[in-house]
Amino acid sequence: MATILNGKELAATLRAEQTEEIRKLAPLAGRPPGLGVILVGDDPASHAYVKNKRNACKEAGIHAPEINLPHDTTRETVMEWVDKLNADPRIDGILVQLPLPPHIPKDDILLRIDPEKDVDGFHPINVGRLVIGEDTLVPCTPTGVMTLLSRYGIPVKGKKAVVLGRSLIVGKPMALLLLAADATVTICHSKTANLSEETRQADILVAALGKPLMITKDFVKKGAVVIDVGISRNDKGKLVGDVDFDSVEPIASAITPVPGGVGPMTIATLLENTLKAYKKRNH
Ligand code: GUN
Repeated sequence: MATILNGKELAATLRAEQTEEIRKLAPLAGRPPGLGVILVGDDPASHAYVKNKRNACKEAGIHAPEINLPHDTTRETVMEWVDKLNADPRIDGILVQLPLPPHIPKDDILLRIDPEKDVDGFHPINVGRLVIGEDTLVPCTPTGVMTLLSRYGIPVKGKKAVVLGRSLIVGKPMALLLLAADATVTICHSKTANLSEETRQADILVAALGKPLMITKDFVKKGAVVIDVGISRNDKGKLVGDVDFDSVEPIASAITPVPGGVGPMTIATLLENTLKAYKKRNH
């Protein structure tokens, strides 16, 4: 039987620790940490994500103003809002929820965010610092996966890690974090030949493909640690991951469920990154 890596429980522990830290730091700094959230348009999934993020912030005592802009907002208006948050001394972190409407060039907006307030870690300066190996703001989901591994005492050093997916949000930073932790890392993607041959080498397998239930036991080595970053809804509206949990769990040594695995860790890490930016600005 695999150990179930309970991200929901661990995230609650982390958030309690963060709340306590903020309670101590805010009187010294004269203000709580601040996270400005920009949301453009009316995508229901994005609204739901932002609501979860803001509720978590409020609970922890983080000031979290939300800038809700209509779908037809211009690039210039979004830029002006980013500038305002960049200049606002009460704001330590800025999150522009993705995806943006197609007429707003994402890269222009992300480049405009002050790298010291870039709690998503998407700015090229922060991506570069991660590549170099400097301590910096790193995307929340892969950072949350590393926290999950370390808090469960799962060793990474010298292990063979296979990352499925090469996005800027998960796959690439995940591979770099595992590399920084001394794993031997392979990145696989939609054009990888003989995928299951690659994935069966993994001691640690991270699935971030966005292909519901694709990873069955045929892709997994006995005793592997399996991390499922995928979140999709099946035809019954139920949340499912990239990993076919029922097929993989019996042969894995540890596995994350969906929901309740990586997802809650992402939000806890957003708070952690906001706290990190706040402490740096108030040191
Ligand atoms: N949309 C989906 N995931 C993310 C994320 O991690 N950050 C932001 N800003 N938008 C997202």
